[in-house]
Amino acid sequence: MTTKSQAVLNWIDERFPLTSSIKGHLTEYYAPKNFNFWYFFGSLALLVLVIQILTGIFLVMHYKPDASLNAAGVPVAFASVEYIMREVPGGWLIRYLHSTGASAFFVVVYLHMFRGLLYGSYRKPRELIWIFGTLIFLVLMAEAFMGYLLPWGQMSFWGAQVIVNLFSAIPVIGPDLSLVIRGDFVVSDATLNRFFSFHVIAVPLVLIGLVAAHIIALHEVGSNNPDGVEIKKKKDANGIPLDGIPFHPYYTVKDIVGVVAFLFFFSAVVFFAPEAGGYFLEFNNFLPADPLTTPPHIAPVWYFTPFYSILRAVTYPLFGLDAKFWGVVAMGASVVIIAFLPWLDRSPVKSIRYKGPIFKIALVIFVICFFILGYLGVLPPTPGRTLVSQICSVLYFAFFLLMPWYSKLDKCKAEPERVNFK
Ligand code: HEM
Repeated sequence: MTTKSQAVLNWIDERFPLTSSIKGHLTEYYAPKNFNFWYFFGSLALLVLVIQILTGIFLVMHYKPDASLNAAGVPVAFASVEYIMREVPGGWLIRYLHSTGASAFFVVVYLHMFRGLLYGSYRKPRELIWIFGTLIFLVLMAEAFMGYLLPWGQMSFWGAQVIVNLFSAIPVIGPDLSLVIRGDFVVSDATLNRFFSFHVIAVPLVLIGLVAAHIIALHEVGSNNPDGVEIKKKKDANGIPLDGIPFHPYYTVKDIVGVVAFLFFFSAVVFFAPEAGGYFLEFNNFLPADPLTTPPHIAPVWYFTPFYSILRAVTYPLFGLDAKFWGVVAMGASVVIIAFLPWLDRSPVKSIRYKGPIFKIALVIFVICFFILGYLGVLPPTPGRTLVSQICSVLYFAFFLLMPWYSKLDKCKAEPERVNFK
């Protein structure tokens, strides 16, 4: 470094912890040397967050949250999205990057969470990283739900109608609560305006704050790894973990491989199949919202469907409260229960590599049920499908609730002293 640039750096360092932050979080932050591809998904989630914020900024320049009808009889909000697609230079690309980004966010976050399940990343001392993660997941669902109302298509309107109505099933406060959420007795311009405000500023601020807390907590305790071995337990004479390597340059460079692979698939969808067969953008949403015409089948976007299936699986009233209420409780519980994993897993080892057959079988059944629930959530219910979703919902909860018992019972292998790295 030249003396001039060193002088500038010194000037900054005396006023702001620049060099020490770069050292603490990058060049002297020691990550386990045995990360595999599962460790790409955290940085990919960050990448998608940036894509969503940047494309969102440009969409807001042309989008109008207005449910009134224009001279052609089309809602202004719907027409403004069409305008972005057809008239704004590059508008179609910005919009498809954002709509595909929403689905990509969930793909990446689901895989990121699954990695946590595989390697026991939620276990002590990473409980707070996991809790922040579950909150991120909840907030992300709220963000996606409110964003979906904005194009003011048929699915936007009727999806919001169905989901907001669910809140009215809560005893005592329910009807008022759904009124507050809607800002009206039906989904209307007032709803569109408040969802716009939440989607564009309030929820993203919370999301960014939670992601910052997630990473600060991670850097406090250090990363887990595919062997579930705590690398901080074995250090050299300089206090550097024997199984650690500096995050920069080793993982900044390795993550580029993940980014390139991700962008390959992401671009393929954006340029060749942005609707993804109706899974990323539902066909009904290419029709303007019409409060007088209910679509024959209302289904949420794919990333909500496992939880939506759990909601629909509850068909019996209990304690004088109707099935809809218990469905909402079951759906809420199916997400909140994820946060309790650190205390449900009693296995002596963290990683799936050393766990016994019971945990492995339980995890396989859980994943199969999650996919079945996701698939059934897109389809209209029939008695047969409801029965299957009831069985899968029970197995979904059993995975968590029986974990304290079966994770203790399991015959685990001994965890190695050092990480496996060839
Ligand atoms: C916007 C969403 C998210 C972002 C940007 C994000 C970002 C990150 C990053 C950059 C890492 C470090 C790299 C890695 O280990 O892959 C990480 C680690 C972690 N994340 Fe997330 N995350 C998100 C959501 C979640 C969710 C929803 C959960 C779980 C409910 C979660 C749980 C974890 C855990 C347990 C670790 C530590 C993993 C380990 O050390 O093995 N994250 N996250």
